[in-house]
Amino acid sequence: MTEKALVILAAGKGTRMNSDLPKVLHPVAGAPLLVHAMKSGAMLEPARTVIVTGHGAEAVAKAASDWDEEAVSVLQEEQLGTAHAVAQARPALEGFEGDVFVLYGDTPFIRPETLEAMAEARLRHDVVVLGFEAADPGRYGRLLMQGEVLEKIVEFKDASEEERAITLCNSGVIAADAKVLFDLIDAVGCENAAGEYYLTDVVGLARARGLSATAVACPEEETMGINSRAELAQAEAAFQTRARAQAMEDGVTLTAPETVFFAHDTVVGRDTVIEPNVVFGSDVTVESEAHIRAFSHLEGCHVSRGGVIGPYARLRPGAELAEDVKVGNFVEIKAARIDRGAKVNHLSYIGDAEIGEETNVGAGTITCNYDGVFKHQTRIGARAFIGSNTMLVAPVSVGDDAMTGSGSVITQDVEPGALALARAKQVNKPGFARKLFEMLKARKAKATKEAQ
Ligand code: UD1
Ligand code: MG
Repeated sequence: MTEKALVILAAGKGTRMNSDLPKVLHPVAGAPLLVHAMKSGAMLEPARTVIVTGHGAEAVAKAASDWDEEAVSVLQEEQLGTAHAVAQARPALEGFEGDVFVLYGDTPFIRPETLEAMAEARLRHDVVVLGFEAADPGRYGRLLMQGEVLEKIVEFKDASEEERAITLCNSGVIAADAKVLFDLIDAVGCENAAGEYYLTDVVGLARARGLSATAVACPEEETMGINSRAELAQAEAAFQTRARAQAMEDGVTLTAPETVFFAHDTVVGRDTVIEPNVVFGSDVTVESEAHIRAFSHLEGCHVSRGGVIGPYARLRPGAELAEDVKVGNFVEIKAARIDRGAKVNHLSYIGDAEIGEETNVGAGTITCNYDGVFKHQTRIGARAFIGSNTMLVAPVSVGDDAMTGSGSVITQDVEPGALALARAKQVNKPGFARKLFEMLKARKAKATKEAQ
């Protein structure tokens, strides 16, 4: 099989985003646009991935290597055009033999099937371009076809009236053998309306050399490029629409699909039910037959089979919930492992903790994990009962089958089977309340009289 390399163009400024953040780092579904492009390119199992950076190069390179540590970033100091951009990848592809696929950092939605169709077309043609039938062809480059053969790409600025009438447009995505592509790019000049080195010129140059070129067409929505905040919002909406449909197809019940927001990497198992207004941050796995109730927010966590979460629950990074765990309303869990069948049902904060099987954590319980400088662990064993409003001042542990009395402030370890009480002793004073009421009422009556 032919080896593949990815070159992702991401040097542009993105002026219309009106942002300090480089355009390709704006997120859709919790991941930078660039990561979406890298994810779609990943289906080619590229031997090398090269990101061409320019504006905000450092930040863009970091995002690329955070996602794929093998990705190499190169700098295009001046943006002289798309052919010039691809040429910057050449040193990073030294010694590579195979096909180069050029993708765009601001074009997040190319489907694997589409790249597969391009790879397939490459078996028959030297250069393969991804095109689409544009509803409004606007300023896109136009594909000049003769039957199956792509003769040339003409940029809008350089096109005649007749050429502008063509609706088959250039997505920008292109594939060719590395050596062929760089040889062609060497021949690209900048005598055109924009004074830029157009990558699109490689097609005409290839044809002039007797090489063959063709176009593969995909639905227009795949080629959607993001240039403004409005387009970013449209991309988010398009992503969510697809993710919701996919979840339902995968056997997940969404009571009100339009109110559920997925991240780019959310995994939800079959027969899980997701109620309205649930939001997923990145890195969440929910297994089968779980129930995520309304208004819950999940991020960086794992909910096992049969878990019931919410309503109004917040699972933060490192929340690891075993089977049949229940987390109820206004409960926040962070960096904590909750074992099978344990319950934290009301108004609690559990952070940097371990809770054993079948343990019940009463309402209002808090793991006091932070001393202002360091974070500390709380360990609670199996089948324990934590009384309501217990403060667990970490580091601290509560053994298996132990109990804490409601309102306790637990600062010392509790051994297995023990009952820990750590609160002021109650004192009852007979008749005292009645006397106090009388005294206060008399005081109020006197004050009212004086005021008249
Ligand atoms: C390009 C295509 C056009 C196609 C359109 C699809 C060329 C000459 N034209 O036009 O046929 O219809 O995309 O959207 O290729 N970039 C760099 N360095 C540069 C120039 C561009 O990294 O020097 C990056 C940009 O950041 C952007 C992408 O390449 O992500 C496309 O560049 P852009 O200037 O938007 O090209 P278009 O004029 O839209
Ligand atoms: Mg563009």
